[in-house]
Amino acid sequence: MDTVIELHNIWKNYSGLEILKGINLNVGEGEFISIRGKSGVGKTTLLKIIGLLESPDHGEVKILGKAANKLSDHEKSKLRLKAIGFIFQFFNLIPTLTVLENIELPLALAGVKKQERIKRAQELLQYFELSNLAQRFPETLSGGEKQRIAVIRALINNPKIILADEPTSSIDEENSNLLINLLKKINTEKNVTILLTTTDLYEKLPTTRDYILKDGRLMPK
Ligand SMILES: Nc1ncnc2c1ncn2[C@@H]1O[C@H](COP(=O)(O)OP(=O)(O)OP(=O)(O)O)[C@@H](O)[C@H]1O
Ligand SMILES: [Mg+2]
Repeated sequence: MDTVIELHNIWKNYSGLEILKGINLNVGEGEFISIRGKSGVGKTTLLKIIGLLESPDHGEVKILGKAANKLSDHEKSKLRLKAIGFIFQFFNLIPTLTVLENIELPLALAGVKKQERIKRAQELLQYFELSNLAQRFPETLSGGEKQRIAVIRALINNPKIILADEPTSSIDEENSNLLINLLKKINTEKNVTILLTTTDLYEKLPTTRDYILKDGRLMPK
């Protein structure tokens, strides 16, 4: 099994306060990992470091075998656009764009032509049986629908890795189940490696491994 994410001794402080204190983690291709921890323990910080949006103070991050500290900012952006789909903690669909246009957006940033973008976005919506939402604007969607669209947008670049930051925190139980099933389908059918965070320490999830983040350290659950 190929290792797609490697973290060696990651440290991170904000204003002198150590948030992450020597995090080690190896994630193999096709795994589905949960990182659980209370509010403020550093889950988002850790995902941003893995997603190359933040740099650690110490330690090494390797994504698909590439050492992040050896990459220029431009190479990091390229790797991020190509390999990583990010589902943010709070929906960040653009209100002035339709669902279809929101899904296309990462491809637009990657310089893909309009026709090809529309085709890919429509295919994905169809695959997940959400084509009926294509022309709607985000404000007309329910919270659960918004979050499912955010998942689909994270898939548009065919990423190897999806980082999902508390994707179920602002939706009800039924929508949470739908979302988790959607992620599991992506994990098994498209062999996408998934890292998900949650504040729920006990929730049963279809994951391959579970971790607890506490006092700056990661422990197997
Ligand atoms: N850019 C920043 N500048 C200063 N402090 C920060 C910054 N980002 C995060 N922090 C602090 O680092 C700690 C960890 O934040 P983080 O957002 O990673 O926690 P979290 O586990 O994601 O919490 P939640 O479950 O509430 O989303 C918090 O105390 C937060 O205030
Ligand atoms: Mg967070």
